Amino acid sequence: MKEHHVKLAILTQLSQGGFHSGEMLGEQLGISRAAVSKHIKGIRDWGVDIFRVQGKGYQLATPMELLSREHLSQHLSTPFELIPIIDSTNQYLLDRQHNLESGAVCVSEYQSKGRGRRGRQWVSPFGSNLYLSMYWKLEAGMAAAMGLSLVIGVAIVEALEQLGIDGVKLKWPNDLYFNDKKLAGILVEMSGQAGGAANLVMGMGMNLNMSEQVEGIDQPWTSLNDVANQPFSRNDLVIAFIHAWQSALEDYEMCGLHGFVERWNRHDNFLNREVRLVMGNRDIQGVVRGIDATGAVLLETEAGIQPFIGGEISLRKLN
Ligand code: ATP
Ligand code: BTN
Repeated sequence: MKEHHVKLAILTQLSQGGFHSGEMLGEQLGISRAAVSKHIKGIRDWGVDIFRVQGKGYQLATPMELLSREHLSQHLSTPFELIPIIDSTNQYLLDRQHNLESGAVCVSEYQSKGRGRRGRQWVSPFGSNLYLSMYWKLEAGMAAAMGLSLVIGVAIVEALEQLGIDGVKLKWPNDLYFNDKKLAGILVEMSGQAGGAANLVMGMGMNLNMSEQVEGIDQPWTSLNDVANQPFSRNDLVIAFIHAWQSALEDYEMCGLHGFVERWNRHDNFLNREVRLVMGNRDIQGVVRGIDATGAVLLETEAGIQPFIGGEISLRKLN
């Protein structure tokens, strides 16, 4: 078995719940107890909390529902790949774009090189979050791509509401927030133009049940289990998000951003709040008045209400 296949097999056992002795795990996998212990260390390095009790064995600190290829394939009509250990789900689809059809999906349990905007790191521990990407050939071309992170964000918030999970908000242009803390991020990447169409990969990372011990996040963050009043299934969330993305992207192809402006504004975390827009070394302060049909954020200053758009702009809460 390849190295990480052994770790995945151990995690499959542990995800059943209860204690699993090193001896039993070793027997099941045909490896020694010392090898089990080495793999457990590797699994911990993926960000999974496992504790060990003398005489009982190993147990997950929190229950874990692994993504299931069977469950997903029963509910998805789009081609999808579940690759438990990956560098980045966005990169995976970008590398294979020439052989993909619109709507093809990649989903993972752990990313070693998850990324955010402008080369920032997306912290991606195993099994506790979602890492989901979709390839889409946008017939409207490159110019229409700017609106995509907005469309995808609206689709996710509405899908959560349909599942009975309320209160998730949008931060222009690519984040999902709850109680002013970052819950999820969206990254749209372009891999060039085929004729008039743009080849795009959209990715989302959403924290579901991330350990407080995680390192490397330099801003307030939260997980979906702090938002939801009821338990949810990781597999069902993947299915709901994929369906919501497909239908939102089809709407967008047909009608553009017009139909999304109202939907965005309803969920805008900063609507009518004072913020700072950071643009390189320029900084502008004002009150957010939602977005317009080009996808620009509208900021009210002494000069009136003005649209701002562009990948280099960051919106910051005013302290
Ligand atoms: P911007 O407004 O420019 O998008 P941002 O700080 O949200 O600013 P992004 O590039 O969108 O930056 O996202 C990357 C940032 O998100 C990282 O620098 C880190 O602060 C934060 N981050 C990384 N991993 C996670 C995670 N799993 N959950 C929440 N936040 C994270
Ligand atoms: C951001 O807030 O800047 C966007 C973060 C996007 C993270 C997701 S996780 C799935 C996909 N694969 C990546 O490497 N990044 C996106």
